[in-house]
Amino acid sequence: MGERTNGGSPSRATPRRRELLKKAIVTGAGASLPAGCATPSEKQLPWNWVQEAHLQPVTTLPDNVTRPWIGPHFWSNRLQDWRLRAGKIECLRGEASYEIRTVSVLTREVVAGRLPGRLRVTTGLAGHLNRDGFCGFLIGVGGPELEYRAAALAQRGSGEGGGLLCTLGRDGRLQFREHTNEVDPLAFGVQAAETHYPIGGLTRPAADDRIQLDLEIRPQRAGRFELRLTAWNESRGELLGTAIRRDVRDEAVAGNIALVSSPPPRRPGACWWFQDLRTGGEKIANRPDRTFGPIADTLYTVNEGVLRLSAQLTPVAEEEVESIRLDYRPAGTAEAWRRGSTAELQPGYAALFRCEKWDLTQVWDYRVVYRSRTADPVAYHGRIRKDPESGADDFTIGLCSCTTPAARALEAGRIDPDRSPDEYLGRYTPENIYFPYADLVQNLHRQRPDLLVFTGDQIYQNSPTRVESRENPTLDYLYK
Ligand SMILES: [Fe+2]
Repeated sequence: MGERTNGGSPSRATPRRRELLKKAIVTGAGASLPAGCATPSEKQLPWNWVQEAHLQPVTTLPDNVTRPWIGPHFWSNRLQDWRLRAGKIECLRGEASYEIRTVSVLTREVVAGRLPGRLRVTTGLAGHLNRDGFCGFLIGVGGPELEYRAAALAQRGSGEGGGLLCTLGRDGRLQFREHTNEVDPLAFGVQAAETHYPIGGLTRPAADDRIQLDLEIRPQRAGRFELRLTAWNESRGELLGTAIRRDVRDEAVAGNIALVSSPPPRRPGACWWFQDLRTGGEKIANRPDRTFGPIADTLYTVNEGVLRLSAQLTPVAEEEVESIRLDYRPAGTAEAWRRGSTAELQPGYAALFRCEKWDLTQVWDYRVVYRSRTADPVAYHGRIRKDPESGADDFTIGLCSCTTPAARALEAGRIDPDRSPDEYLGRYTPENIYFPYADLVQNLHRQRPDLLVFTGDQIYQNSPTRVESRENPTLDYLYK
């Protein structure tokens, strides 16, 4: 394990070396510092250190488009609370009651095991500069039990499985805060940590400062981990400080990773942007198959010889769309694709295709090809079934209505402290979050329905987040 990340044989840090490293961080010459600064030679590094050179970018985001959707590697909570602009992931919400806005990283996960890991992101102020608040990472959401798409919803309300916040405050303070308190879900209680700040004390980031936030997860003995959060002011070449929390359980760090921008509890606060997220070390698993979008899904009907197919896109920018095209060919063949039709992007980010004289007697494969000015073309594949034989005895209908993503909302609702713990559903547990409906999908597959019917209540306005009646009803509906 240590070999892979160090390139050398495992060697434990002696107390003397640890002391030197600690001093190095306080004085701003340690290995936590960005490229260009003096770093200890490989021989000096402890076995559980993930080197700077092993940090890999999660993705490259386009810098020539402004849109609500961040990109295929991310899921923002909520869609209307974030945007991509000038290559930065930018939070738009700093009002009171919009605590812990998150952008989950779908293609990375902190995994269980005695392994080292490291996360780094560049951050800065995006708005409401004179207010307080904090930004940073939320790690360890859901643990191994919660499906990654359910864990990716983690936001405002703390609760069981809610993870650990690793934050940089507006005042320059570095902190670890819980996100697990079911009784006081907006407390975000500060956890004990050793902190080191430069001799001048805390430094308040300025409006244009670019701050590197670096989180190291280092294995200690007996399955415990040391978390080391360092902030470096890239613009001024200054260390802001380091916070170290030790003896952290593996279950507290394993799970979903998210970026966080938050006002202080119950008050308005600053907004933050993020850029150039990198991860490294075997503790941070790469999950490239977990991307989502820009085509979220498709639906089709065939009626009286007409195929109608809709493709739902994630909220892209109108001006980046070049073309959206439907192709088809006989199922299971490698024949050349036949042109179906092209479609414009409609309000609601949907593309609607219509093909006349559809041949219902055979099965077809199809693909929806999306071309944009900001990324390589992408194709979404599916299959169009033939008409069920008329006169057949059975015709199976699958009804998909009244689906709610979570029993308890992800806002501030608290459990009753007088009830016993087995009488409530922990907020970020499989018992509470049904999304993405694994049981429902599995049972539908088992029934092999000829027709899926959606008769309403495909979402509920108050689940898993608050009713949003005025602002961005389209994005709120899509989010839900
Ligand atoms: Fe309903």
